[in-house]
Amino acid sequence: MHKHGKDYIVFPLDFSSLKEAKAYVKLLDGWVGMFKIGLELFIDQGPSVVRMIRKHSGAKIFLDLKLHDISATVHRAMARVADLGVDLVTVHCSSSAAMLERAVEGAKGDTRVLGVTLLTDNDRETLEAAGFKDRFVQDPRLLVLHRARMAYEAGCSGVVCSGREVQQIKQQFGRDFLAVTPGIRPAWSLVEQDDQKRITTPGQAVALGSDLIVIGRPIRDAQDPAGAAQTVIQEIEVALRQP
Ligand code: C5P
Repeated sequence: MHKHGKDYIVFPLDFSSLKEAKAYVKLLDGWVGMFKIGLELFIDQGPSVVRMIRKHSGAKIFLDLKLHDISATVHRAMARVADLGVDLVTVHCSSSAAMLERAVEGAKGDTRVLGVTLLTDNDRETLEAAGFKDRFVQDPRLLVLHRARMAYEAGCSGVVCSGREVQQIKQQFGRDFLAVTPGIRPAWSLVEQDDQKRITTPGQAVALGSDLIVIGRPIRDAQDPAGAAQTVIQEIEVALRQP
């Protein structure tokens, strides 16, 4: 099926109340391909968030739980996630290959499992302090690729990575292995000097091969969030038309 510009957009529902989340789901329905539920909202509201999104939108659902526990526990948690019928879920790649395999098994093919390679607040210093090998400290991208390989070999559907790593991930693991990219800032974005350091624009990310872009504050904080989403869609469609 042909993928439209909006299908690339994942909007994170980074809110503390169901009421606010619902307002944005209604506002952005039709303008984004997927809503992402993060820990804050899920801890507070649980599966009712999934039901709320289904009621007000036809968009897909991404449960960003970033699970990390012993394999048996993750396996059981994944079975519950699959029963919720969400499309995507995240697990950390920093535990073991066995944990990733059990996560995929638990999701029963109903929910696609994404590996989180390296959180953006990790840098050389934090990697060194955490006792990582020298080569990973010197070049954290090697760690991203190493973990992407763990995810790939365990049968995960893809990884979360920065726009800068997408090309290499696609080269190594093929075009069907999903690259989901946060840290997206359109050139017109009002969000300045925030915590996203390794940023790309929506057009750049899609041109590099990202399958999904997570874009929150530039849309959420715009005067007209639906209008901002439409501008992002246009930018994506221009990038898709480039040879
Ligand atoms: O576009 P904005 O920075 O507001 O998006 C924030 C969202 O992206 C949050 O939901 C956060 O969990 C997610 N995210 C991130 N950096 C990562 C992975 C996910 O900011 N490396």
